[in-house]
Amino acid sequence: MFLSTDKKQFSELPRDCTFPEQDWHILAGFWHPVAFSSEITDRPIKSKLLDVELVLYRTVDGISAARDLCVHRGAALSLGWMDEECKHIVCPFHGLHYDKDGACTKIPSVADPSRPIPKTIRLISYQAVERYGLVWVCLKPEATRPIPDWPLLENAGDEWLTFELPKGNWKASASRHCENFNDLAHLSWVHMKTFGNRERPEIIDYKLELDDNGMRMEMPYIEVERGFNDDEGEREREVYYTHMFTFPFATDLQVDYKTDDGGKMTSHFYDIGTPVSARETAIFQLTQTNIPGATAEDYAEYQLVTNEEDIVVVESQRPEEVPLNIAEEMHIPADKFSIQYRRALVRLFNLGSPQITS
Ligand code: FES
Ligand SMILES: [Fe+2]
Repeated sequence: MFLSTDKKQFSELPRDCTFPEQDWHILAGFWHPVAFSSEITDRPIKSKLLDVELVLYRTVDGISAARDLCVHRGAALSLGWMDEECKHIVCPFHGLHYDKDGACTKIPSVADPSRPIPKTIRLISYQAVERYGLVWVCLKPEATRPIPDWPLLENAGDEWLTFELPKGNWKASASRHCENFNDLAHLSWVHMKTFGNRERPEIIDYKLELDDNGMRMEMPYIEVERGFNDDEGEREREVYYTHMFTFPFATDLQVDYKTDDGGKMTSHFYDIGTPVSARETAIFQLTQTNIPGATAEDYAEYQLVTNEEDIVVVESQRPEEVPLNIAEEMHIPADKFSIQYRRALVRLFNLGSPQITS
């Protein structure tokens, strides 16, 4: 019923945090997408990152993110609205106004306008920026790593079609999702409604490079092209995959296709898993293609079926968290990516350290 007098209401770690405390602080140092930019118009919206409930709002001065909590009496600011000039978010409970940086600028119940507003009345605000049509938030004042560098998303010529997929919500950890997106051996087993080729399950000893920001791997594959209509038939097509991965959960998968006249067409599948909690992930995906005649509707439908094929399996994985002790799961040669990924999370970021218990 009461918080004790020694309890800090506004501790950095969220209430009911589902992550080990040390992992939470490490993951909080990265940028994570929390919404598509197009979702935030003239009304605040709510989101959740690493168990922190957020309000996202757009003033005339730009995008803002804060704890979804008014510091007066704890009401959810995402139930509020923007003032007429779109300079402040207004709390729905007693009408306190907060500016882009979270500072309180108006307390409507105070009759004397000359009475100063204490500087301590301010939201718990976070860094927020928009890039690639996404709103990225970092819960720490200094980010450990930059936002993924995807120049083609900012400088695509007219031959490129770029579109967003509807946001997904997986009952799985972001790391399980991310390993799945970069798992090569599963293609011939999980994706039999879309492009998987059960006749060709072998995975070559693919090349993998690793640096401090991510990993890169390349592999040819022979997909099966399946139409969704029965009369379209099936045929094999050679593709070349280049996975460009950025820690901790972002991938740019480039797929090169040969054309009949010896030319090349390319698609990029950008995928970022945002850890909503330790066992729940928001999926943000963007696609870019220069395949002539491709439409966003058809392509998106195909990708959503691909996602559905993955979700069933990934949500079934136990433990939900990726074991960072390599010996905890058995490995096969095709697992080079996930083995290196797990090792890198420990070596570069110190994730998964044993918990100190007193
Ligand atoms: S709780 Fe927000 S103004 Fe009172
Ligand atoms: Fe998959």
